[in-house]
Amino acid sequence: MRTAVAGAAAPVFGPRFLDTLERRLEAYQAIPPAAAATEEAFWREVRKAFPPHPDYINLENGYASPQPIPTWDAFQRHEQAVNNGLSFYMRRRRAADYASVKQQLAGLAGCPADEIAITRNTTESLGTVIHGIDLAPGDEAVMCDQDYGTMLEQFRQQSRRRGLKSVEIQVPLHPRDDQEIVDTYARAITPRTKLLLLSHMINITGQILPVRRVADMAHARGVAVIVDAAHSFAQLVFTLPDLDGDYLGASLHKWLCTPLGAGLLHVKKDRIRGLWPLLGETSVPDDDIRKLERIGTHPVWTVMAIADAIRFHNLVGGARKEARLRYLQEYWTDRVREIPKVYLNTPTGARACAIANVGIAGWKPGVLADALLDRHRIYTVAIDTAPVKGVRVTPHLYTTTDELDALVAAIGELARA
Ligand SMILES: Cc1ncc(COP(=O)(O)O)c(C=O)c1O
Repeated sequence: MRTAVAGAAAPVFGPRFLDTLERRLEAYQAIPPAAAATEEAFWREVRKAFPPHPDYINLENGYASPQPIPTWDAFQRHEQAVNNGLSFYMRRRRAADYASVKQQLAGLAGCPADEIAITRNTTESLGTVIHGIDLAPGDEAVMCDQDYGTMLEQFRQQSRRRGLKSVEIQVPLHPRDDQEIVDTYARAITPRTKLLLLSHMINITGQILPVRRVADMAHARGVAVIVDAAHSFAQLVFTLPDLDGDYLGASLHKWLCTPLGAGLLHVKKDRIRGLWPLLGETSVPDDDIRKLERIGTHPVWTVMAIADAIRFHNLVGGARKEARLRYLQEYWTDRVREIPKVYLNTPTGARACAIANVGIAGWKPGVLADALLDRHRIYTVAIDTAPVKGVRVTPHLYTTTDELDALVAAIGELARA
C-alpha cells in the first residue's frame, strides 16, 4: 500500500492563509462550544488547514499531530529567516523571541511565565525532574503500569543508580468514580514515598485521571506530584494551577500541533531551587527556571513556531476543540459498543476525550491493526500490554464523521469474520 508523507505534498499557503481562515471562521464565533462540536461546516473549514491524507484514513493522531498548514508554513519562514542571519539571530534576537513565546504559553497554561521552561518534549521535561531531584537510597516513587514507558524507564534507571524504589500500581480501566482512583494511589504511599507520577490522560486508553484529587491526597501526605500532561495539554481545557502538580511536562507537538520537538516543563516556583539542571548551569540564580534551558544549539525555529501554533489553537478555540474531539470519539465508540465481541478499554463521558481503545475478542491487537490498515485503509496503532489489549483510535480536528462511519463498518465486518 502507498503511504503519503503527511504534509510533503501540501502547498505552502503563505502568511495570509491564516487571516483568510480567521475571516471564514468568524461567522461561527458566537456558537457555544457544545453546539459547535457538531457544526460540520465549521470543521470542514478547519479541515482545509490540515495536510490531506489521500491514501488512508489517519486515526493515529496520538503519536503527534500534523501541523496545520499555516503553522507549517510559518515554521519554514522562521527557518529561512534564522538561516539568513544565523549568529545575529542567536545572539541578538533569540532571547526576546523565547521570552515572548513563554509569555504566550503561560497565557495558555494559566501560570506565571517564570515557572515555564521550553523543552523538546515530555520525555525531556519529566526526565529533567526525575533525574534532577535529590533522592536517597530507599526513597520511593509511585506510578502506574499504564504510564508512558519512557517515564517508567527513567524511574527504573533511578532505581539502579540511586536505589530509588519504584512502585508500579494498577489503575482500573473503568473506574466507578474518582475516589476509586484516589484510593488506588493512596494505598501505595508509605512514609518513604517522595514522588508520585501520574498521567493526566493515559496514552494507551485515553482515560483522564482526576489529577487534582490525587494531588490533594498526595500533598496531604507530603508527597510531590509529577504530572504527565503529554496528551491533555491543548486537548483539554484546564489551567496548570487547576491540577496543582508540583511539576508538569507536556509535548506541544501533540495537541497544540507545533512542529516536532517542542515541549513544556512547568515547575512550581518554590520547587525550582531544589531541581538540578541536568546539563549544568550556575550562571543564573538557583530559583530561575532558565537554568533548565541550557541545552546547547538546537533548531530555534521550532520554538518560534509555537507562537503560530497558539494562534491557530485560539482561532479554533480550546473549548470547541475539546468538545469536538470528545464528540468524534463518542461518535464511533457509541456505534461499536453493542457489536458482539467488541470491547472498549476506555471509560465513558468526561473520563475520556479524543483517544479511545477498542478490541475484538479473539483478535490480537497487532493483527487487528493490520487488518484495519490492509483491508480498510484505516490507520490505528496496536496496544499490546499486560493491562491493555486493543487498538488505539485517535481522531483529530480534521477527521470527518464519514471517516468514522468507515471505521465502525470495518470493526463490524471484522468482528463478524
Ligand atoms: C503519556 C505520554 N507521556 C509522554 C510521552 C512522550 O512524549 P514525547 O515523545 O513527545 O516526549 C507520550 C508520547 O506519546 C505520552 O503519550
